[in-house]
Amino acid sequence: MTRVLITSALPYINGVKHLGNLVGSMLPADVYARFMRARGHETLYICATDEHGTPAELAALEAGQDVATYCAEQHEIQKRLGAGFDFSWDHFGRSSSQQNREITQGLARALWQNGHLEVRVTRQVYSNAEKRFLPDRYVIGTCPYCGYERARGDQCENCTRVLDPTDLKNARSALSGSSDIEIRDSAHLFLKQSTFVPRLREWIDGHAAGWSPLVTSIARKWLDEGLQDRGITRDLEWGVPVPDDIAGGKLKGKVFYVWFDAPIEYIGATKEWSDQNGTGDLWRDWWTERETTAPKYVRYVEFMGKDNVPFHTVGFPCTLFGANESLPEGQKWKVVDQIKGFNWLNYYGGKFSTSGKRGVFMDAALEILPADYWRYYLMANAPEGADTNFTWEHFASVVNKDLADVLGNFVNRVTKFCAARFDGKVPGEGEYGEDEEVLITELGLRIAQYTDFMEAMEFRKALSELRAIWVAGNEYLTKAGPWTHIKTDRARAAVGVRMGLNLVHLFGHLAWPVIPHAARLIHQAIQPAPEIIPWPDGAMVDFLDQLDADQPIAVPPVLFAKITDEQIAEWKARFGGED
Ligand code: 2FM
Ligand code: ZN
Repeated sequence: MTRVLITSALPYINGVKHLGNLVGSMLPADVYARFMRARGHETLYICATDEHGTPAELAALEAGQDVATYCAEQHEIQKRLGAGFDFSWDHFGRSSSQQNREITQGLARALWQNGHLEVRVTRQVYSNAEKRFLPDRYVIGTCPYCGYERARGDQCENCTRVLDPTDLKNARSALSGSSDIEIRDSAHLFLKQSTFVPRLREWIDGHAAGWSPLVTSIARKWLDEGLQDRGITRDLEWGVPVPDDIAGGKLKGKVFYVWFDAPIEYIGATKEWSDQNGTGDLWRDWWTERETTAPKYVRYVEFMGKDNVPFHTVGFPCTLFGANESLPEGQKWKVVDQIKGFNWLNYYGGKFSTSGKRGVFMDAALEILPADYWRYYLMANAPEGADTNFTWEHFASVVNKDLADVLGNFVNRVTKFCAARFDGKVPGEGEYGEDEEVLITELGLRIAQYTDFMEAMEFRKALSELRAIWVAGNEYLTKAGPWTHIKTDRARAAVGVRMGLNLVHLFGHLAWPVIPHAARLIHQAIQPAPEIIPWPDGAMVDFLDQLDADQPIAVPPVLFAKITDEQIAEWKARFGGED
């Protein structure tokens, strides 16, 4: 047994997340966490809201709330929606927590003491009207490249060029519109990332075999292009304050950059979890490796979209490597072992967009259908090898075929027939024969492959194997034809129904990581379901012949309703499509 630490990229606080956010972070992390638990591993799945930075401040401003109140409310909303999607977080924290503040400050202090930080004076936009510095997004003006008049200080939306606020012509404050601004010097902390290049390269090369080409190519590109030292502080009030004992108080009143403290919240949230459970320093067992005392080995797996890869393969590891020297001899911070990166899920060929409100968001998704419909569809079509595309037509066809016809119908047919013809009890007559042996052999192979794909986090392949398992069950049942044999050979019909019920039970086990609610209903048709439905172990020949004769079973409610053409039309009208 291994300890498995799982983190999903932290959803930003500025509003409800869309399906494109889910499929590259919280959802696959949840499926994997459930799979790991089902396999008997001690698993910790940590997530949190990422609450600092200018987008949070701007979203709060737009909502007419102070930023702390805004974040507290949005955190609760995201937590509730996560529960609605059946995310089995062990803890869903907040990057604005006291725990994260302390750990972020502690790591920064260690970096300072170990000589990895440097104070540099930078030129920043200062608003005389607001008496404050205006970081990137707070400044708007004319793009020096394309002339677009509402370009933001960090990037021009029109020509996509990355900008510095001081590049803008006719620069003005996005907050007040005031153009009474000037450029002032401002001291900031820089993390000397360039000195970590050999160490990072060695570390990345050491993992290249286990990481996908998507992840290693992005990571290497950053190193190959010459890694820049990175400013890790900002002239803002909302954030983790830089402690006075760094740089002799020269950074007083400034906060850390959101991308510095956000990944540290993986650790912060683990401490929130251990504090909440009264387990004191337990979080340290997950986050420090001790060479001398050899605790239980932790395997750390991160899930994220491709835009997040640089921060996790370069930025965060630099922080942890650089802070190691401050730990007691023989200890080091745990760095990630496996990174699962995702491409984009598009909506009708274009981007899902939070600011443009384009696509399907978590709250609306749950209003129209239960979580399992989304969970299955998104995992079966996860953007692993390339970007993938969401359309309502495709969504409906997958749900109708795989979930309603293949899985739902199978469970329904078998249990209903058993209720009608065998008094709702597992029939004990007859013996398994050749057809059953063939099926058991096929399922044994397929389940081994399904397991391997899940272990490898190859979710599309895994779900295609899961579907093939359901199809094999259907084909068996059609061939066994108990409804035909019941009139002439009751024992033969009984064999088909008994195997059918054993298959229903098996499907409950295999589907649980992906569609936990339906899997529970399926399992409960046969037997009460434990909290964690364990992965089937041992030989299939035993697993598929384990139900006792005369054991009562139940007919579950309809598991998956088919999506109609009217619904597709209604949802396209509501959410947009083909535009
Ligand atoms: O890209 C994002 O939405 C970020 N909020 C992800 C942060 S991941 C981690 F580093 F906190
Ligand atoms: Zn431009």
